[in-house]
Amino acid sequence: MPSVAFNHLQCPIEGEALYPSEHGLSWSCSNGHSFDVAKQGYLNLLPVQQKRSKDPGDSKAMVSARREFLNSGFYQPLAKSIAEEVLRYAEQQNTSAKNPLRVLDAGCGEGYYLRELVESARTDYLSVAGFDISKWAVLSAAKQGVDAENTVRWFVASNAQIPVQDASVDVVLCVFGFPVYPEFLRVLKPGGLLIMVDPGQKHLRELREVIYPDIKPEKPEKPHPEFFHVQPPLSVNYALTLESAAEIKNLLAMTPHLFRAPADGKQRANALNELTVTVDVNIQPLRKMIAKGIQTTFE
Ligand SMILES: C[S@@+](CC[C@H](N)C(=O)[O-])C[C@H]1O[C@@H](n2cnc3c(N)ncnc32)[C@H](O)[C@@H]1O
Ligand SMILES: [Zn+2]
Repeated sequence: MPSVAFNHLQCPIEGEALYPSEHGLSWSCSNGHSFDVAKQGYLNLLPVQQKRSKDPGDSKAMVSARREFLNSGFYQPLAKSIAEEVLRYAEQQNTSAKNPLRVLDAGCGEGYYLRELVESARTDYLSVAGFDISKWAVLSAAKQGVDAENTVRWFVASNAQIPVQDASVDVVLCVFGFPVYPEFLRVLKPGGLLIMVDPGQKHLRELREVIYPDIKPEKPEKPHPEFFHVQPPLSVNYALTLESAAEIKNLLAMTPHLFRAPADGKQRANALNELTVTVDVNIQPLRKMIAKGIQTTFE
């Protein structure tokens, strides 16, 4: 597997470059800040002062529900489309061992989409990193590994302050995430690709019909962020049949509906043994403009 370690990290305290120690057991900056690699292989780059709560992001239970659900392959067609989008871009970039395609998954959860990308990219030169604000998510990602050499860099961090060097990344993935566009712009190279993956209007409609008395009216589309060129969107649509109460419970536990839904709605969902849901997901690629504010075209 010709993948190259992702080393373009920066110190979350003052932003200087971070360098790994000789044996890779810690990373430090020129100002003397040092971060130990956990025994499972991930880095914690979220200083206490940047945490808004004691245990931010998805809980251990949500992460484990998502891991079980995704590892059952229910969103595999989505993972395949995301990987294809990244690899199409890689083909245009003349990647090599010296010039690998650097991919950063912002809010990577337990790492499913990066694992699928690395798996499907056996012949491409990739340098891959994923981070999440949830320590449970990153721990789960690191434990599941990806390839024999374990070259994917996993770290705990927030989209609000990404500890990655300016203009060092070719592709940012934001899958069902919480985008902070100025940070995505900062870490992307000029012309780099941001892939936004978000639920479409019909996504999990049947589950929502079970848990809410009335389905909320459709939200107006959000405007596209500034300083990106909008690329043609893709839509992934299919029907998914869940055949056990455990699968339905996992789906509910990994969505925001777990917190939003009324108790009786959740009870109704948890009493089901079978449910067919619509998967309807939008993939929106956006290219960072070459110079901020200047309209440019790409070959
Ligand atoms: C709906 S989950 C999606 C996870 C993963 N991308 C997937 O689709 O499997 C949203 C993730 O965003 C993380 N998150 C929430 N706020 C964040 C932030 N400010 N920075 C980075 N990650 C964040 C949560 O911990 C959670 O893992
Ligand atoms: Zn520092």
